[in-house]
Amino acid sequence: MPPQHTYDAVIAGGGAAGLFCALTAGRRGRRVAVLERGERPGRKVIISGGGRCNFTNLNASAEHYLSANPDFPISALSRFTPADFIALVESHAIAYHEKELGQLFCDGTSQAVLDMLLAECAAVGVELLTSMDISAVAPEAGGWTVGTGTGAFHADALVLATGGLSIPKMGSTGFAYEVAREQGLEVVPTRAGLVPLTFPPDETAFFKALAGVSVPCAVTVGGRAYRHNLLCTHRGLSGPAMLQASNHWLPGQSISVDLAPGVDIVPRLEGTRSRAPRVSLGDALAGTLPRRFAEAFAAAYLPAGPLGRMGSRALEEAAALLHGWTLRPAGTEGYRTAEVTVGGVDTRGLSSRTMESCAPGLFCIGECVDVTGELGGYNFQWAWASAHAAGEAL
Ligand code: FDA
Repeated sequence: MPPQHTYDAVIAGGGAAGLFCALTAGRRGRRVAVLERGERPGRKVIISGGGRCNFTNLNASAEHYLSANPDFPISALSRFTPADFIALVESHAIAYHEKELGQLFCDGTSQAVLDMLLAECAAVGVELLTSMDISAVAPEAGGWTVGTGTGAFHADALVLATGGLSIPKMGSTGFAYEVAREQGLEVVPTRAGLVPLTFPPDETAFFKALAGVSVPCAVTVGGRAYRHNLLCTHRGLSGPAMLQASNHWLPGQSISVDLAPGVDIVPRLEGTRSRAPRVSLGDALAGTLPRRFAEAFAAAYLPAGPLGRMGSRALEEAAALLHGWTLRPAGTEGYRTAEVTVGGVDTRGLSSRTMESCAPGLFCIGECVDVTGELGGYNFQWAWASAHAAGEAL
């Protein structure tokens, strides 16, 4: 006799997506259990946004996401919008603000968002079981069996919400990918995303000497352009501009950096040359770039000597380099520091409306799916929206 199904759905993973899916299904009267391998749920919610959780972005729409199937996120994102999540946040009296570019952060700590998710789950009777490392899952007559160290769970549906590979010490596993493959789904090759870039040792020394210096710039890679700040670090380059670029960068590709976007540099340098012919290019550029960066950049890449001795051609070459500094990263810092995983469960095997896979009763949501957002609250909005789509279908 097949085992009795104690639950309508078991949700694997108690992160942002798993908890939101549980509360959505619970509100519809479904009996739901969330199995989380860590001692506590929502660890990434807690560390997100520098401790203030950038919980959504007002501009969330499919063009801010990377996927082998760029139209896939449209359905879920349009049926659960930033306004829907904001309404929930406001109903819990969580104060928030827009930092920049549509990014909404808590005024206080991220704990408020996690407490909200846990309270909503508790209110609709979701069972949240921690320290439950799921080791195996298998289809059984009309449902799924979910194996853990402390016994098996039986449910009509199984939702994979175990995230990606980023920050392994936060509990990340490749579990969703393993299960997806076992059930006949494809997995788009994964790589670290929203991650600092590394460089060959000789170039790293340049960035190391400038560690902590932030420079406004425009970065172009793989046909995508981002205007924000780069940050020099001991290991290479980080900062919002480089994290955004990392989602699109592939090994061997170069990145073009405009260090003075929109600035007409040659007339500026000519003006300085006529007013102060003895100053160096490094000094002259200190009005356009942070001084430490301007001096180091000039010493490494530009001709030495006073401006008064430089002709128009030298100034034009300097300007061309500033507007199109070509960088060839050696790699990234990898999953250890990545905010997200690019790639994942191939959306061709999933319904964009319900997130159910071609294996009946198996759903995939959140970061484990091949949908990766830009920096700035887009990844949580995908977690909420994909979780909502599945929660409405369970
Ligand atoms: P998530 O990884 O959150 O949860 C998966 C859960 O499954 C984990 O709790 C894990 O322990 C559990 N699990 C794994 N394997 C299991 C198994 N076999 N059995 C049981 N449980 C298992 N995004 C954003 O929009 N705004 C922001 O401010 C930030 N900030 C940020 C900072 C940092 C440092 C990081 C690393 C990431 C961010 N992000 C972000 C990204 C965001 O955290 C991410 O997109 C979501 O947490 C993804 O939610 P999921 O629920 O899909 O996975």
